[in-house]
Amino acid sequence: MPYIFNEDIIREIRESNDIVDVISEYVTLKRTGSNFVGLCPFHNEKTPSFSVSPSKQMYHCFGCGEGGDAISFIMKYANLDFVEALKLLANRANIVLDEKEANVDSKTEREKEIILNINRETARYFFDNLLDDNNALKYLYNRGINKKTIKAYGIGYAKNSWDGVLSFLLKKGYSEEQIEKAGLVIKHSDGNRYYDRFRGRVMFPIIDTRGRVIGFGGRTIADAQPKYLNSPDTPVFSKGNNLYGLNTAKKYSRNRIILVEGYMDVVSLYQNGINYSVASLGTALTANQSKLLKRYSNDIYICYDSDNAGLNAASRALDIMKEEKINAKVIFLPDGKDPDDFIKENGSNRFEHFLNNSLNYLDFKILFYKKRYNLNTLEGKIDFTKEISNMLKQIESPIELDAYINKVSLETNISIDAIREEIREKQRGQTNSAIKDKYINTNYRNTNKYNILPVKYNLEPGHLMAEKNLLNFLIKDKKIFDHIKDRFRPDDFLEQVYRRAAEIIFDIYNNEEEIHQDEITIHFEGEELEKLKEVINLESDFGEDEKIKAVEDYIKKINYYELKIRKNDIKEQIADIQNNKARIKGDVEKLIRELCLELIEIDKELKLHQ
Ligand code: GTP
Ligand code: MN
Repeated sequence: MPYIFNEDIIREIRESNDIVDVISEYVTLKRTGSNFVGLCPFHNEKTPSFSVSPSKQMYHCFGCGEGGDAISFIMKYANLDFVEALKLLANRANIVLDEKEANVDSKTEREKEIILNINRETARYFFDNLLDDNNALKYLYNRGINKKTIKAYGIGYAKNSWDGVLSFLLKKGYSEEQIEKAGLVIKHSDGNRYYDRFRGRVMFPIIDTRGRVIGFGGRTIADAQPKYLNSPDTPVFSKGNNLYGLNTAKKYSRNRIILVEGYMDVVSLYQNGINYSVASLGTALTANQSKLLKRYSNDIYICYDSDNAGLNAASRALDIMKEEKINAKVIFLPDGKDPDDFIKENGSNRFEHFLNNSLNYLDFKILFYKKRYNLNTLEGKIDFTKEISNMLKQIESPIELDAYINKVSLETNISIDAIREEIREKQRGQTNSAIKDKYINTNYRNTNKYNILPVKYNLEPGHLMAEKNLLNFLIKDKKIFDHIKDRFRPDDFLEQVYRRAAEIIFDIYNNEEEIHQDEITIHFEGEELEKLKEVINLESDFGEDEKIKAVEDYIKKINYYELKIRKNDIKEQIADIQNNKARIKGDVEKLIRELCLELIEIDKELKLHQ
């Protein structure tokens, strides 16, 4: 029986495979304006007439007339049929194509349809409630939100009642099970009664780019806990794959989108004339959300709260986007404000001023690490400079590099020459010995040079943050240990101090004991102790599910960087071996072949992680 994939899966596969990324794997593309061009793979040519449009997600060859989307490119290029091409792209984007799910599963399709209908009717019901409820309306008016904005976002109100939604939907003919599947009611622990999930809350319908209500977020108007409550994941909704406000932003954005933290930020910006912001639904930004953003805009700004938690989140979001090859900028508002507070107090002109002065990746990271390290101490200056040098090593333009070196020197009083030397050193790269040990035979290892390899890795900041946060969670929450112990080991930490700390932590938990921080810190002193303390003192304000999601992100990130480091190591080893062939005894060709095979394996794995 032929597979027929449902529309959602196909859409997900399309959205997760940017056409430029896909085609770049087969054709060298150069940017020209907003498009990319290259030599057409479908006919012989010397000058490029093959054009790829990231905004349309289409390719076209002006020479031979071939054209289509990422799927048809793969079909044509690799000579695959539709289903095979889908499978390849699903695999590339790490989407699991369950063969059962891949078949037309009209039952799940129907179920989704029903949930979407329930959601649509409920959004309408909430909206009508709001217009009838003076308290709720007053709440929004007090927060500066007027009717026009309420309509634009379809904001509503869930009455403070145990069965408002339930009886409304039962009357419409839906069953309790269906309503529960939509996440709108919760089954009572006694097993057969249901009650409303959202009570006494201003409701924000979450609408996807196709205009379908896929879930809700609700803010209490009575100081209830939690402050915000979201729909659970349902067959039509998963938090990490959607963004609040994207449907509206898409309409107005003209290629520019601002990513904020909260629902209220989005609507408040809209109220004040900035109608192109979206929010990440209360979780740390995910790779899939970044992909979604990239699909709808070329110019992405992060505007999170400017307090410490917000800065940490912005830094993480920047790194996640960087991995998706997005050059996002950060709008840094003064005085720890969130965009809602700021624009209400200062108006859109001042907001646009900060938007126009947004920080690029490096400028933001400099600001970020300046806050993190104490630049009044020598140690702080050194750590700061090392951290930044590590990023500066990637800059290709000498002029730009010079400007940043000057900047760092001014901040730290460390001489320009020393910083330059630090960067050069980092550029030369350091290799780790573990992989070498595995592959290099004794003859080779005996040549002096390779006995004194530095064992320290050059960790990327994003990776380091992931290790820090993960370790922090591990120390504070045994549940996190239980969650990851089967697939994550202490020596997956590349930072030596963290690795040793993790060994101690794993030991304690494995012995069913509780962690007392002293038991860990006692093993460290001096600089190492400081490093560990920094991790212990990290604060996070994740809820329980968000924590688990974040942990998954960290592990993914750590694995990804680990692979990247291994890849670089191997490349360097190959280069080393090539350069020193004459001095190496033994079968050099075999050595190189083995390393190349390893490289291919790593590339395959890396692709799975993309
Ligand atoms: P207001 O107090 O209404 O201005 O909200 P805010 O947007 O300033 O709140 P905050 O910065 O605390 O939260 C930003 C976003 O994080 C919210 O829009 C929610 O998506 C999410 N969030 C905040 N508090 C909670 C909570 O208690 N539970 C959950 N699940 N999400 C929350
Ligand atoms: Mn706020």
